[in-house]
Amino acid sequence: MPRIGSASFGVHAATRADAAGIARVHVDTWRTTYRGLVRRSFLDSLSYEQRERQWRTALDRPDGGPIVIAREPGAPVVGFAAGGPERSGRRDYDGELYALYVLEPYQRHGLGSALLAAVVEGLRARGHDRLLAWVLNDNPAVGFYLGRGGLRVDERSVPVGGEVLREVAFGWSELAPLLRPPRAIGSRRAR
Ligand SMILES: CC(C)(COP(=O)(O)OP(=O)(O)OC[C@H]1O[C@@H](n2cnc3c(N)ncnc32)[C@H](O)[C@@H]1OP(=O)(O)O)[C@@H](O)C(=O)NCCC(=O)NCCS
Repeated sequence: MPRIGSASFGVHAATRADAAGIARVHVDTWRTTYRGLVRRSFLDSLSYEQRERQWRTALDRPDGGPIVIAREPGAPVVGFAAGGPERSGRRDYDGELYALYVLEPYQRHGLGSALLAAVVEGLRARGHDRLLAWVLNDNPAVGFYLGRGGLRVDERSVPVGGEVLREVAFGWSELAPLLRPPRAIGSRRAR
């Protein structure tokens, strides 16, 4: 089982019982990542309950896309990812990464790559063979997607918390390289 220090993490398909844990990671990671990028008042207004309802609805969908979590056995969720069909009807990319979040203290130990690999596996099993992921232009996670071989293929403006922000789309025209995380969970690359 993958390890960070003395902790062993597993990456699993999420169930309905994980909705609250996913919501907590979603809200907490928005707050740590988007401070300075998104209005403070909007981040303060995010609600665990509202996000839990959103994720429970997604998990209840019988034909829903892959939703996966990372956690130690019996411990709270520390990261999650979700994907499904590309949402704007493009012909060049059929699958989309909807969300990928790892709690700040657990970042940069390989969990994000392992969660991405698990979602990609789920998308392949549903017949998708290309992937698109939208990211805020100023989000440091841009470095993560470039490191996983994503190419900048589009840009758009999106309303977020009463402001208009720029997003960049990363595209992968084949999924196989994403199925092999670049390193084991817990190992840090030599700098
Ligand atoms: C982006 C995210 C999911 C990556 O997960 P992770 O577990 O930190 O990533 P991994 O450890 O698997 O891979 C990290 C590698 O990606 C690259 N990378 C570059 N910039 C990075 C960044 N800001 N954050 C994470 N990885 C980055 C590096 O190659 C890094 O390897 P290194 O730590 O040896 O230098 C995670 O950092 C996160 O949740 N960030 C906040 C939320 C977010 O922005 N999500 C994406 C929204 S679209």
